[in-house]
Amino acid sequence: MHIGTLSITWTSLILIVTSGYDDLSANKNAQQYRTGISCPVCVATNAVDGDIKTCTRGESFGTLYPEKSTWWYVDLGGRYNVYNIRIQFKDYGEMYTVRQRGYETNSVFTELCGVTVTGCVRLDVYGSNCDKPCSNNCPEPRCNISNGACYNCAPGWMGDFCKSKCLFGYYGSKCVQKCVGHCKENEPCNHINGTCDNGCLDGWIGVNCDKPCLPGKYGSRCLYNCTGNCLNDETCNITTGECHSGCKTGYKGGICDKECSPGTYGQGCLNNCSGHCLNDAACTITTGSCDLGCQAGYIGKLCEKECSPGTYGQGCSNNCSGHCLNDAACSITTGSCDQGCQAGYIGRLCDKASTHTDTFNENCNSSFYIAGLSFLILIIIVLVSVLFFLIRLDKPFCPI
Ligand SMILES: *[C@@H]1O[C@H](CO)[C@@H](O)[C@H](O)[C@H]1NC(C)=O
Ligand SMILES: *[C@@H]1O[C@H](CO)[C@@H](O)[C@H](O)[C@H]1NC(C)=O
Ligand SMILES: *[C@@H]1O[C@H](CO)[C@@H](O)[C@H](O)[C@H]1NC(C)=O
Ligand SMILES: *[C@@H]1O[C@H](CO)[C@@H](O)[C@H](O)[C@H]1NC(C)=O
Ligand SMILES: *[C@@H]1O[C@H](CO)[C@@H](O)[C@H](O)[C@H]1NC(C)=O
Ligand SMILES: *[C@@H]1O[C@H](CO)[C@@H](O)[C@H](O)[C@H]1NC(C)=O
Repeated sequence: MHIGTLSITWTSLILIVTSGYDDLSANKNAQQYRTGISCPVCVATNAVDGDIKTCTRGESFGTLYPEKSTWWYVDLGGRYNVYNIRIQFKDYGEMYTVRQRGYETNSVFTELCGVTVTGCVRLDVYGSNCDKPCSNNCPEPRCNISNGACYNCAPGWMGDFCKSKCLFGYYGSKCVQKCVGHCKENEPCNHINGTCDNGCLDGWIGVNCDKPCLPGKYGSRCLYNCTGNCLNDETCNITTGECHSGCKTGYKGGICDKECSPGTYGQGCLNNCSGHCLNDAACTITTGSCDLGCQAGYIGKLCEKECSPGTYGQGCSNNCSGHCLNDAACSITTGSCDQGCQAGYIGRLCDKASTHTDTFNENCNSSFYIAGLSFLILIIIVLVSVLFFLIRLDKPFCPI
C-alpha cells in the first residue's frame, strides 16, 4: 500500500515538537529521484534512519538542468492516523543562505536529514500516548487523534463525541428520523433503530408498534377479540375493547360483554321486563318480549297488558261469569269473584244459578237452610213425644 506516500518539495519546512505519539516513518522504505553520483551513499532512507547526521542527496536540478523537479517519498506501510510530519533539511550554517531560504532555482539538490511522521499505529485510539480508545459511537473505529472527536456519529448518537443519544422521539442516522410507534408506557423508541424495546402499547403491533390491531381485535399484542356487541356493529376501541357509542340492545358493560341481567332488557338494559311471562321466565334481553307466552291474565308481546274487564285467564280468552257481587270485575287470572256472587249465583266464578231465591248470599243461605230444617225436625220430634205421652195418660190406670 502506498497510501502514506509523502512527497515534498524542499521549500516546505514544518517544525513541531511532538511528544509520545508513535513514530510512523522510522526505518520505512523510502526512495528519491535520483541518488546522484555526487554522493552514492546519500540514499533516500537516510532521512528516516533516526540519525540527523546522515542525509539524502539527489542529483542536481533547476533551471540549468534538464530536470526541473525532484521527489522523495517514504512508504509508511499502512493506513494511520497522523498527528504531524516533521521535515528537517540539512543545516549549512552560514553557507547557501539563499538556498536555505528557498529562493535558489538555478542549480539545486535536496538534502533531507530527518523526516518524522508521528501519529498512532492503531486507528481506533487517540491522545498523545495513543492509549485512549475512540468512542464506540464513532461509526468507524477512528477519531480525531488529538481530542477523540468522531468524524460523524453512528446511528442513534449525536454530539461532538457521539456520547448523547438522539433526542426523545428521534432515532437513526444523524437522529433525524422520527419515532412513529406507540411504545409501551409511551416510552421513546430505540434511539438506534426505532423499535420499541419493551413492546407496544395495547392496541398496536409490529416491531415499531406502528400498526393498529385489525378490526375486531384489541388489547395487548391484539390478542383479544372485540365482543361484537357494540352499537351499530361499530368496531371496538383497539386499546381497551370498549364500544365508543355504547352497546347493542341487550348488552351492557364497558366492552358490552354482559347480557342484560334477568328482568331487564333493551338499550343499556334500562327497561324492566313486564314480569308476566309464562312460568316467570325472563323476557328477551333485546325486545323484552315473552317468547313462551304470558301468564294467565296478561296479553301483549311483552305481556304488559292486563286482560280487559270481563275477561280472564290464559290469553284473556275466557269471559267472566258477569255475576260477581256489585258487578265487580272477576279476577283476571282465575275468573273468580273475590267479593262473592250476585244473588242467585253460586260457585267460585258465580257461574251457577242458585235454587234459592232469598237475598242471602250463598254461604248464609245454606247454613240458614240447614239450621231451619234441623229446628223443624226437632219440633216434630218433641210434638210426637208429647202426643205419645198424652195417649199413655189417657188409658185407665192399671195396677200391675
Ligand atoms: C481535531 O481536533 C482539533 C482540535 O479541535 C482540530 O483542530 C483538528 O482540525 C481536528 N482534526 C480533524 C482531522 O478534524
Ligand atoms: C433494534 O435494536 C435493539 C437493541 O439493540 C435490538 O434488540 C433489536 O433487535 C433491533 N431491532 C431490529 C429490527 O433490528
Ligand atoms: C378470537 O376469535 C377467533 C376467531 O373466531 C378465535 O379463533 C380465537 O380463539 C378468539 N380468541 C380469543 C382470545 O377469544
Ligand atoms: C380508545 O381508548 C383510549 C383509552 O380510553 C383513548 O385514549 C382513545 O382515544 C380511544 N381511541 C379512540 C379511537 O377513541
Ligand atoms: C326497573 O326496576 C327497578 C327496581 O325494581 C327500578 O328501580 C327502576 O326504576 C325500574 N325502571 C324502569 C324504567 O321502570
Ligand atoms: C265472550 O264474550 C264475547 C262477547 O260478549 C263472545 O263473543 C265470546 O264468544 C265469549 N267467549 C267465550 C269463550 O265464551
